[in-house]
Order: sequence, then structure tokens, then C-alpha cells
Amino acid sequence: MAERESVGIVLLGLGVVGSGVARALTERAETYADRVGARIELRKVLVRDATRERAFAPARSLITTDPAEALGADCDIVVEVMGGEDPAREYIQESLRRGRWVVTANKELMAKYGPELLAQATAGGADILFEASVGGGMPIVSPLRRDLSANQITSVRAIINGTTNYILTQMSREGAAFGDALRQAQDLGYAEKPDPSRDVEGFDAAYKLAILSSLAFHGHVRVDDVYREGITHLIPRDFRYAAELGYAIKLLAIGRRDSDGIGVRVHPALVPSDELLANVDGVLNAVQVEGDLIGRVLFQGAGAGSMPTTSAIMADVLEASRSIVLGNRPSPWRYTADMAMKTISALTTRYYIRVEVTDRPGVLAGIARAFGDNSVSIASVIQKETDDEAQTAELVIITHAAREADVQRSISQIEGLKGEVRQVGAVLRVED
Ligand SMILES: NC(=O)c1ccc[n+]([C@@H]2O[C@H](COP(=O)([O-])OP(=O)(O)OC[C@H]3O[C@@H](n4cnc5c(N)ncnc54)[C@H](OP(=O)(O)O)[C@@H]3O)[C@@H](O)[C@H]2O)c1
Repeated sequence: MAERESVGIVLLGLGVVGSGVARALTERAETYADRVGARIELRKVLVRDATRERAFAPARSLITTDPAEALGADCDIVVEVMGGEDPAREYIQESLRRGRWVVTANKELMAKYGPELLAQATAGGADILFEASVGGGMPIVSPLRRDLSANQITSVRAIINGTTNYILTQMSREGAAFGDALRQAQDLGYAEKPDPSRDVEGFDAAYKLAILSSLAFHGHVRVDDVYREGITHLIPRDFRYAAELGYAIKLLAIGRRDSDGIGVRVHPALVPSDELLANVDGVLNAVQVEGDLIGRVLFQGAGAGSMPTTSAIMADVLEASRSIVLGNRPSPWRYTADMAMKTISALTTRYYIRVEVTDRPGVLAGIARAFGDNSVSIASVIQKETDDEAQTAELVIITHAAREADVQRSISQIEGLKGEVRQVGAVLRVED
């Protein structure tokens, strides 16, 4: 048995995740003591409302609504599971100033302030661990920090928002409209009410991609570097047309290193149906990493939920505890690369474009001209639904590999074909 008999924990937050962590610390205390060589003791829990009923309630004497009491308690590790930017950031900084290790599930904070928090932790001789900030229970932060660190990572392709993956799965399987699939997700507690925009507009995935790309490419990828598009404009027909062409539609978060820089983007994309990522359905998360030594490796698992997220938080708590017990210095993450970031307009890929047109001769010629004028080559045009009464038809156009900037110029030109084009309904990137 090590000299130190216990490791003290202060828990900031006792909601969905915090209750799971408190339960694990209480009910698995003996197992964890065996694994670490010292007892891991919950010393204080900070909440907003001490009277609220909890999924798991630790001893009443441990709960406080006073931040000074929680942050001043005798402890070694502070576990932040409050969420949001402030005051979580301030509490983490205060904890690091006091030389504590920090474990957090806060993607927003780590995406925006990761480098400065990590630097502060290092200066204080501690570390900040954040496995739960991306992918819930699915391990990905630790593999990128440790297991894949000998590689030159070329790409990270991920489904990292369970809410949108659930909605897209429902739209694909049931032919549900976006609004109906969103309501189902809200009823099941997967999507926030009343404002689900963090998920459906891709903000949540963008935070997580900024964290993953920073780790994968060893430099600081800022949230503002991430190009972001949501899923609200998709309609059930897009899923049917994509399936006929051999694709699924997924909200992908992609970080890619090319010779001319790093591109980071979150948007719905067509993924070949036989690819692993195309078959990750419902609220599951998955991340595919490609490295020069390992080749392709895929991580998949529960991206949220009390117990899966507790699994990730407790792994970090156990790692920090072992270091504290053994008196080891932390091995903090270092951002070493100077990175050139590429904008979306430099992307080259194939595109799926759905256009609603007036059903009359000559329309196609105008559209073909718009693409031709901008050096975009068409691979196929399929005429889909027609509405004889309204005299409209729907075209699905697949391009050869083209530059994003050229495609966007073509789209503007096509939208200007008044009287011939009703609307450009969807422009989706094809991720072969
Ligand atoms: N839920 C998931 O599946 C999941 C998965 C991965 C990561 N995360 C991340 O984990 C974190 C927590 O998520 P959650 O779902 O557990 O949230 P939650 O259920 O809303 O719980 C938040 C907890 O923090 C407390 N809190 C919030 N602001 C506070 C303040 N200013 N002062 C004191 N206490 C405060 C709340 O106290 P009261 O209870 O008194 O209001 C509550 O106990 C977030 O960063 C989230 O992004 C969650």
C-alpha cells in the first residue's frame, strides 16, 4: 500500500453525468481503491439547488451551493460536470491555481480554451483530462493523446453528435420529415427543448471536431476554423435518392491534413453505404482515424448518457489518482505544430445537387452551362419526381470532383435562372 491513503475529489455538478460519477465513486469505492492503491473519496459536491431530487444523492453534508466552499475543500482532483462556459472556466482556473488536477466533460470549454487551460495545468504541475468531452463513453481523446501518438495522422472522420445521427437515421429508415424526427428526438430526451440548434446546426460537432483535430494534428485548431453546416434543410427524398445511388447521409465532422494545409468541416455528406461510418445508426458515435503507421482504425460506442459518460470521467479520475498516489509528474499534452488552415472554398470533392426546375425544354441546357462556365464537370443528371400540375421537375445532379468555390459560383448562377429554376434544394458533398 502506498503511503498516501486517499485521494480527495470535489465534484462540480450533480446532473445527468455528475450523478453517475457520484454513484460510481460510492458504489465502486473498493474496486477503485484496489486499482489505485488508495481510497478515492468524494469530499464536496457543488450544485445550484440543494433541494433538487437527484438520480443519485451523496450524503447531504457533502452538498453545497457555495462555490468558495467547494473550491476551498481539501482535495486533489476537481471533476467539472456543470457544462457551459462560465462559471465553469473560472472554477477550473481556480482549481488549477491551487495545483489540483482537473477532469472535465466540457467540450465548449476545451474547444475554446484548451491550450491555455493545459498550459496553466502544466505550470502548476498538474494535468487537465477531458476524455468525456468528445464521444461520451467512447474512447478517442486518450487514444489520440497516447496510443496513436507515433503516427502522422492524415484524417479524422467522425459521427460525433448522437442527436443528429438519431434524426438522420429516422429520416432515412422511416422517411420521417426533419421536424417529426426532431420531435421524436426531443421526446426521448436526445435533443434539447425548446432550442435544439446546438445539435442540429452542427455547433456541438464543431466543438468536438476542434478538440479532435487539435489532438490529431498537434496544433491548436480553433472553433472558428471549423466550417459548419447543419441538417435542417434535408428532406426525406434526399435519403431516398442517396440510397438509390448507393449512399447514406450522415452529419460528418472531418479533419484532414493535405500537403497544403489542414481542413476542418462539419456538414451532412453522402457516405458510401458499404462504409463502416454509413452503418453507425441511432445515437451511436464513431470516429475513424487514419495514420501513416496504423492505417485505418475505427472507434464506436455510446456518445452520451449518464453511465457511458461516467465510464470516461472515471477513467480520467483513476489515471489522475494513480499519478497522484505514485507522485508521478503528469505528461501534459503539447501543441507543437504550426498549422496552415485551409478554408472550405479550397475543398475538392464530388457533389450531390438537388434542383427543383420548371418542367420545360431548355432548362437543362441552362444548368449545364452554369456548371461548364465554372469548370464543374457533371457526372450524371437524373430526373426525379415531376409534378405535372405545377409543371415542375426535380433533378439530382452528381458532379465529378470539383472545387467548392467553383461549385458555389455555379449554384449562384443556377439560382439566377429565374423562371427556369424554382430552387436549389440541397448541395451535399460526397465523401467517397
Ligand atoms: N449528458 C451527457 O450525456 C453528456 C455526455 C458527454 C458530455 N457531457 C457534458 O457533461 C457536462 C454536464 O452535462 P449534464 O448532462 O450532466 O448536465 P446537467 O444534467 O444539466 O447537470 C449540470 C449540473 O451542474 C450544476 N450546475 C450548473 N451550473 C451551475 C452553477 N453555476 N453553479 C453550481 N452548479 C451548477 C447543476 O446544478 P443543479 O442540479 O442544482 O441545477 C447540475 O447539477 C456538460 O459539459 C456536458 O456537455 C454530457
